[in-house]
Amino acid sequence: MSHPLERLRDEALREIESATDDQALETTRVKYLGRSGSISSWGEQMKVLAKEEKPVVGKLLNEVRNAVTAAIETRNAQFRLQKESGALTKIDISLPGTPHEIGSLHPLHQMHERAIQIFRRMGFALAEGPDIETEWYCFDALNTPPDHPARNEQDTFYLSDGRLLRTHTSTVQIRAMKSAPPPLRVIASGAAYRRDELDATHSPQFHQIEGLYVDENVSVADLKGELEFFLRELFGPGTEVQFRPHYFPFTEPSLEVYVRSKALKRGEQWIEVAGCGMVHPAVFEAVNKARGDKAYDPEKWSGYAFGLGMDRLAMILFDIPDIRLFAQNDLRFLRQFA
Ligand code: PHE
Repeated sequence: MSHPLERLRDEALREIESATDDQALETTRVKYLGRSGSISSWGEQMKVLAKEEKPVVGKLLNEVRNAVTAAIETRNAQFRLQKESGALTKIDISLPGTPHEIGSLHPLHQMHERAIQIFRRMGFALAEGPDIETEWYCFDALNTPPDHPARNEQDTFYLSDGRLLRTHTSTVQIRAMKSAPPPLRVIASGAAYRRDELDATHSPQFHQIEGLYVDENVSVADLKGELEFFLRELFGPGTEVQFRPHYFPFTEPSLEVYVRSKALKRGEQWIEVAGCGMVHPAVFEAVNKARGDKAYDPEKWSGYAFGLGMDRLAMILFDIPDIRLFAQNDLRFLRQFA
């Protein structure tokens, strides 16, 4: 015959086991272990027990209380676990995450950075000027007469107020000399615009890296040596560089620069990459007039200037077959330079 306390314990344990949620479990706990619960009320009954019964029943009461308390805790822990794993099963951890796309620099921007990195080592500082210019900065100050074909509406984008989209970055030569006396050693990279038909090698918007060095005794040898150095740094030591006579109104003599390198895809071909020459004395005079001084005295100072085709350089360097790719924003193209 079991003790009524033991029967109470078994009854409680069965109820705990069959409780389906934590609320039912709490009801069960109150029923047995609450202040007026059926197990707790045995504490009261102890008082009326015979002296010799007290320790036996007291010990049993403790055991029963502990067993029921432990069973409730275990069942509670089970409920907690169920809840947590229930929450987890709502998350499908096998699903791919939301990709966080990080952009990368445009190949022309990468080209610009490579170029200034090399020119900085050669002592060039960065200069800049606006894309929208006056005729004076684009042509007059650069010794380009009013009847020169480059000034034609067929070649140049004019704004209704008479200003224009610069046809070359040589405008920055003038801006740099206007704002600082010689010696001067600057490069400027940026967009230029011409009314060209768009095809694989021509675009109405293209990019140039302009260079200007003015000092005492600057010679064609300096120009050739420094451009050769730049092009070999960019394309590799095996790069061949060729200078061919040309004409620009703002330089005298004027030259075109061609490169060829076995290391490059179009290795056998000579490719034109720049125009350059010695700054024409008329350019210095125009600058002096605008400055209102004689800072660029052509008797004392000489200088060279060059304009590198940045799209062309990038196309050679990265083996890009079509200039239009630069402006199409096709991610399949752009991701190749990430
Ligand atoms: N501005 C010329 C062009 O766009 C290039 C050039 C720059 C030539 C500097 C000589 C000196 O074709």
